[in-house]
Amino acid sequence: MFEPDSALPEPISPEAPRPFVDLVQEFSQFGQSSTQVSEGEIPYLINEFWTAGQRQAHSIHEVSYRACFKPQLPEFFITRLTKAGDAVYDPFMGRGTTPVQAALLGRRPIGNDINPLSVLFTRPRLEPPAVTEVARRLDQIKWDEGEIDQPDLLAFYSTRTLRHIGALRKWLIERAPLTGTPDPVDDWIRMVAINRLSGHSPGFFSVYTLPPNQAVSAQSQRRINERRGQTPPDRDVKALILKKTASLLSDGPMASHPPSLLTTGTAQSTPAIASGSVQLVVTSPPFLDIVQYAEDNWLRSWFAGIDVTSVAIAHHRTEVGWQHMVRDTLTELARVVQPGGHVAFEVGEVRNGKVLLERLVWDAAEGLPFDRLFVMVNQQEFTKTANCWGVKNNAKGTNTNRIVVLQRNERGTPGVPAQRERR
Ligand SMILES: C[S@@+](CC[C@H](N)C(=O)[O-])C[C@H]1O[C@@H](n2cnc3c(N)ncnc32)[C@H](O)[C@@H]1O
Repeated sequence: MFEPDSALPEPISPEAPRPFVDLVQEFSQFGQSSTQVSEGEIPYLINEFWTAGQRQAHSIHEVSYRACFKPQLPEFFITRLTKAGDAVYDPFMGRGTTPVQAALLGRRPIGNDINPLSVLFTRPRLEPPAVTEVARRLDQIKWDEGEIDQPDLLAFYSTRTLRHIGALRKWLIERAPLTGTPDPVDDWIRMVAINRLSGHSPGFFSVYTLPPNQAVSAQSQRRINERRGQTPPDRDVKALILKKTASLLSDGPMASHPPSLLTTGTAQSTPAIASGSVQLVVTSPPFLDIVQYAEDNWLRSWFAGIDVTSVAIAHHRTEVGWQHMVRDTLTELARVVQPGGHVAFEVGEVRNGKVLLERLVWDAAEGLPFDRLFVMVNQQEFTKTANCWGVKNNAKGTNTNRIVVLQRNERGTPGVPAQRERR
């Protein structure tokens, strides 16, 4: 049974801006003793701040999305920098790790992503139905009346399975249209089905293929089938949805939390989110090394009735282009985060550590109404220290999260006299 906040430090009220030194002490109390290093003007804190094993994440997080972070990351910041009822936001929410963890901890979940699938992944898990309701709804679907309108998909599915997927897809497109507020049980079933469409085990609707967050084309799948000598077997779509539902809900119900706000659009412009309404942002932008979100998600988008070519995800291949995107995002975050609130901006290692993205983020925040506190490097046990600096960083298996931590100051805040502004 999940118990929000148990065995964790008292949450910190974000009301008053906190001195840098206090935050350093609180963060370093977590895990082993922390190393502080100053590289140029950037203070780095290096520690095993959280590990995947030390506190198991709630089962409801177990949906697959490319480049998602572990729930322990947002949990670390949410428990330390907010209290129950505060708003926690992720402008690049992906599968919704931050808003889901915020809800589990009784905070107000706010999320945005340019990919319309993100709302479909996140919304149902914020208000999950009971397993019995899901079972009842699945019994109403006329599984054998499904049609095959995409014969190419027979590379992944048997004829019978594809008919069943067709029946479910039709039911959802008619009953739970993408615009408006869908029935929560249908919304849940769609989320689970999207996550079972294709994968590498019998728990998925498809024959063996790549992991579920990297759908290959039908043509590539035919080649995989030939190479492996495999034919798509019949799968029980209804039973697999029920099984995954039970597994997602196995750690108990969602905590009660304030109403959520989820939007689809660019992180750089989020008019639906009120100015000064957010206490904490925990986020991870798309990285320089390109993940093809639209291509990876074509099968999921087909199922949901999303035109994948309409999703305008800009790719930033150069450091300068990427830094502009980050700057524009931070400018918008300066509007939505209230004075005293924090931003934890996670970047991964790219290009074998030759590009240190955290430094680009740090520089992108220059001149914005944020105090740049430090960069945290969550160093897993097997990570060599040298890897933190991008030195001799070709070793495989390196896995560090680098998080730029910012605090909104009072500059540019309506109603704050200029002389009170700090810089
Ligand atoms: C690294 S992933 C975030 C994963 C997320 N932390 C999670 O745990 O699932 C980056 C996300 O940014 C989204 N994205 C890319 N460009 C965007 C933009 N300009 N505005 C909003 N979202 C964007 C992608 O669709 C992707 O979901």
